[in-house]
Amino acid sequence: MAAEKRMLFVGLSCLDIINVHDHYPEEDTDSRSTEQFFNRGGNASNTAVVASQLGGCAEYIGTIASHILSEIIKEDLNKHQVKFENCSFHDDYRPPTSCVILNSTNGLRTILHANNSLPELSVADFSKINLAQYSWIHFEGRNIPNVLKMIELVENYNSMNDDDIKVSVELEKSKTSDIEKLLSLGHVVFVSKEYVMNRGYTTSESALHGLHDGLRKGAVLICAWGSSGAWGRGVDGTIYHAPAYKPEKVVDTLGAGDTFNAGVIWALNRGRVLSDALNVGCKIAGRKCGMYGLSGIEENE
Ligand code: ADP
Ligand code: FRU
Repeated sequence: MAAEKRMLFVGLSCLDIINVHDHYPEEDTDSRSTEQFFNRGGNASNTAVVASQLGGCAEYIGTIASHILSEIIKEDLNKHQVKFENCSFHDDYRPPTSCVILNSTNGLRTILHANNSLPELSVADFSKINLAQYSWIHFEGRNIPNVLKMIELVENYNSMNDDDIKVSVELEKSKTSDIEKLLSLGHVVFVSKEYVMNRGYTTSESALHGLHDGLRKGAVLICAWGSSGAWGRGVDGTIYHAPAYKPEKVVDTLGAGDTFNAGVIWALNRGRVLSDALNVGCKIAGRKCGMYGLSGIEENE
């Protein structure tokens, strides 16, 4: 029997230093956090870790610093059975690092990120992988000039093969230059609340109506909206809404969006319809908001 094809997640892996604090601190004060965690983070690797827990065969590709602190990243990918053998390793760099203040009273996260000059994944690195192994490739919206060329490689592969690789793209940070170029390239396009608000939309639905002209033919557009859940526009123009699943107490929203994306990708990759996929995404993202970190998301979906 042929091996199950993998889902590949392209983008950032970083170190997250998370301080759980019982309030948001004032500047120039000295206070004590309840806990501090050193975790693996980064959108693409977060999404890979969750997709793997849902039962998919997940791989992460990006750059990793050859540094003692990267052991935390590699250990966590291994723990969650995420493959990362095609990553590019760089000597003499520290891993990109986020300092996160997590306010335990409301679960809100404040992120201070430094990429520490680690080089991004090159097109040459990406071109070495055997595309025949994948059913789905998800690109985080960063490293845009290279990602555009990587998507072109996937498109070339698709034009020469019957079993198409589905491409999804995430447009999250509006300040990333040229990020809008991704809009027309995904079969599935995730746009964030921040991205669409920056483009002048005040609701998820208005963004779906306003942005769909820029999509490729037959693409699906998805926009999550925090505690209001998520909206998606299907290929035929139907708009679907999935409500948020509210945990008893919201303690940690770090990576909620990455978790949502994993649920949607996993479900669509299994052939589920868009409305179901949005529900899977909201269900696991809601569950994630009620607990710390991204481990233990696998139960019942
Ligand atoms: P991020 O800011 O991490 O990109 P979003 O705020 O867009 O993530 O949320 C993604 C998904 O996570 C939402 O669609 C929702 O399902 C879930 N979510 C986020 N915040 C909450 C919350 N406070 N309660 C329940 N679910 C939430
Ligand atoms: C969550 C996250 C963190 C990381 C930050 C980078 O979505 O991926 O794990 O520190 O965003 O922007």
